[in-house]
Amino acid sequence: MADILKPYQLSSTIELRNRLVMAPMTTWSSQPDGQISLDELDYYRYRSGGVGMVITATTFTIPNGMGFKNQFYAGDDLYIPSLTKLADSIKLGGAKAILQMFHAGRMSKKSVLGGNQIVSASAVKALREDSELPRELSEPEIHNIIESFYEATRRAIRAGFDGVEIHGANTYLVQQFFSPHSNRRDDYWGGSLLKRLRFPIGIVSSVKRAAADFGDDDFIVGYRFSPEEVEEPGITMDDTLKLVDVLADQGLTYLNLSLSNYKQTSMRDKKDLRPVGKRIMQVVNDRVPVMGVGSVVTFEDANDAYDFGYDMVQLGRSIIINPDWVAKAKSGKEIDKSLDLKAVKSLYIPEGMVTKIMESDGWFPTK
Ligand SMILES: Cc1cc2nc3c(=O)[nH]c(=O)nc-3n(C[C@H](O)[C@H](O)[C@H](O)COP(=O)(O)O)c2cc1C
Repeated sequence: MADILKPYQLSSTIELRNRLVMAPMTTWSSQPDGQISLDELDYYRYRSGGVGMVITATTFTIPNGMGFKNQFYAGDDLYIPSLTKLADSIKLGGAKAILQMFHAGRMSKKSVLGGNQIVSASAVKALREDSELPRELSEPEIHNIIESFYEATRRAIRAGFDGVEIHGANTYLVQQFFSPHSNRRDDYWGGSLLKRLRFPIGIVSSVKRAAADFGDDDFIVGYRFSPEEVEEPGITMDDTLKLVDVLADQGLTYLNLSLSNYKQTSMRDKKDLRPVGKRIMQVVNDRVPVMGVGSVVTFEDANDAYDFGYDMVQLGRSIIINPDWVAKAKSGKEIDKSLDLKAVKSLYIPEGMVTKIMESDGWFPTK
């Protein structure tokens, strides 16, 4: 059997049935009040039978953290039953259930926040066509957000999740505080690299505190990050190697490196041909497991990503297209490379997600 399919000891007390993980993917399909929908429960149930771990779509922990219409919520105890259904739908298939949590910051929109202005580390617009000007968060608001991650972690534990993942990637608020583009503060939370690290590390401490207060010793806490930004100024590889060096000593269960190709090289320095993942794993130096992601389509790709050095390998678009990806890989069946739009119902892909896939301009292969 390929190593990637063998059980993996993630920590001293947690064994995963294999090293394959379903990547976190937003569905745009929760109920308008932030509860998980039946379609989403089917979507997860149908994909939790083979992988070792499923990371949920990202949830938000405080009202102004919402990023998308029809996103599910974890910011109130009233939502514990909804979260419990989500955890159960994943655990039923035998996978560990991980709740991904974020704050969208300046990547949200007024229309998503009920007419309220979006917020961020500083009042600097994101560099994209339809971005809006955020309002700079006040000191008490920053503390509230950090506390909201504590509370959401407590709810995740009550709901039966095996762990949580802090979404510090893909240009959302945790990354916005680390980024010299979105963080122009000159107070406790910004100014130098060490100060820009304070918010991400504050979130880690808050989540770890909740895990210690309410969870078992084996409660999983992961952290996802993006290594670079194209903006000027923006996060560089040097910045990220420092972030990773600090994260590796925080007692996290794993780090999740967000890339669009697991082997990719620097976006900022095209002359540097060293794969980003290798440089990060060198700094981590086995202090904490590292999960890779990006354009893993076939079984060969997954094995190659494992040989490359990642401890665990995530499946994103490919497990949307092939809910039974692991069973197919085990039996040597061909993995579909593009989504049959006529089959979305039988593949249990929620409607909101199908709409986004159709708008994705070829990034999501369809037929
Ligand atoms: C439909 C869709 C929704 C996504 N939503 C999230 C999300 O909520 N959180 C996150 O960290 N990444 C999200 N991503 C990124 C994926 O987790 C993954 O990193 C990316 O798709 C690359 O992996 P792939 O090439 O296997 O698809 C999303 C990707 C897709 C396709």
